[in-house]
Amino acid sequence: MLVQGQEAATMRLNANTLLQGKKVVLVPYTSEHVPRYHEWMQSEELQRLTASEPLSLEQEHAMQHSWREDADKCTFIVLDAQQWRAQPGSAEEGCMVGDVNLFLTDPGDPTVAEIEVMIAEPSCRGRGLGTEAVLMMMAYGVSKLGLTRFEAKIGQGNEASLRLFQKLHFAQVAVSDIFQEVTLHLTVSEPERQWLLEQTCHVAEKPYRASAAEPH
Ligand SMILES: CC(C)(COP(=O)(O)OP(=O)(O)OC[C@H]1O[C@@H](n2cnc3c(N)ncnc32)[C@H](O)[C@@H]1OP(=O)(O)O)[C@@H](O)C(=O)NCCC(=O)NCCS
Repeated sequence: MLVQGQEAATMRLNANTLLQGKKVVLVPYTSEHVPRYHEWMQSEELQRLTASEPLSLEQEHAMQHSWREDADKCTFIVLDAQQWRAQPGSAEEGCMVGDVNLFLTDPGDPTVAEIEVMIAEPSCRGRGLGTEAVLMMMAYGVSKLGLTRFEAKIGQGNEASLRLFQKLHFAQVAVSDIFQEVTLHLTVSEPERQWLLEQTCHVAEKPYRASAAEPH
């Protein structure tokens, strides 16, 4: 569990962390990933599904910096583990499939976070990558950041996303017709915590390019 004061350093915590799962590998979002990410976000479908505004490349770099530095945010880029294993040491851009984020929504309670996921590459959807990425991020949030409650906001009609969070035990708590959005919650009780850790017991945590750490 975090104590006040630890929180400010929290979100740089993953700056040197690689999480290796079966289908996905999670790596910190660095400036190297920005061009591909920016390319994805030109898609109007993704802008709509993720409720995002289009950004210039420069703004996307500023956003990457903010995701890396801000105390209330934590983000990982999702890599396709199959491609990553097939091309050891080569540029990660070719293996990037999406991202997964945590955002601390309550300044008075650092145990509550909103979780978001995007599998941007259409050919990579529907293969369980989103599910594993969310499970890995939740386990990271619970065990490393001291989170006890997750919230997800999903567009009404986004069946894949709703299905994903519901099968991970999230329950619907609100529907906004104005924003056409559904809010789901999950409180991590002890049995939920055990379940989450069981689902992710295969995940290996490794240092991320220890020798090539980003200067900023
Ligand atoms: C939503 C999203 C994250 C799901 O990730 P994914 O890797 O495609 O999903 P998974 O393969 O892990 O499947 C999750 C569940 O959704 C179901 N699902 C997947 N695609 C579906 C579709 N097109 N329609 C209905 N259900 C679908 C799967 O069947 C699975 O449930 P199951 O295990 O009971 O079969 C991904 O499709 C995506 O990023 N889409 C675009 C952006 C977006 O919508 N982001 C979420 C914003 S809230």
